[in-house]
Amino acid sequence: MAASEDFRKLFELALPDHAVDSDRIPWVPQGERVWYKPLRFDLANGRWVNLLKVAGKGKVNRHRHSSQVLGYCIQGSWHYPERDWIARPGTFIYEPPGDIHTLVVEGADDMITLFLLEGVIQYLDDQDNVVSQDDVFTKLDRYHAFCQREGIEPVDLRY
Ligand SMILES: [Fe+2]
Repeated sequence: MAASEDFRKLFELALPDHAVDSDRIPWVPQGERVWYKPLRFDLANGRWVNLLKVAGKGKVNRHRHSSQVLGYCIQGSWHYPERDWIARPGTFIYEPPGDIHTLVVEGADDMITLFLLEGVIQYLDDQDNVVSQDDVFTKLDRYHAFCQREGIEPVDLRY
């Protein structure tokens, strides 16, 4: 078999390209003053991509990630009380597996950040007990349930 034919067969196995119009996807409530807009659910690898929006003075409760997190702040500013940096538009964030933090928006403005996540997010109480947890499947379920409640046709983001 010629080398070029080998490559052609490999490309047939590969995931095709996707272009997602985020304007077609709703902001799904995640908590008080917190919403997410999913962009990708990679069920084969337990990964997902979403925009996170937190209204002014809002926060995401203290949690632990089982895997790395990558983020890029698009709008507004936020910080983790557990860290000494502040995310502003243009800040790129890497969080190692096992990181525990609380996402706080101090200002009055909404913040929007793109996050690339994988594995499990465990929400913790003050004694480090797991209160609830999320993964690619719970994020997908919540997106579909919200669309159904609101009468919205969900965009298929499983790729
Ligand atoms: Fe986090």
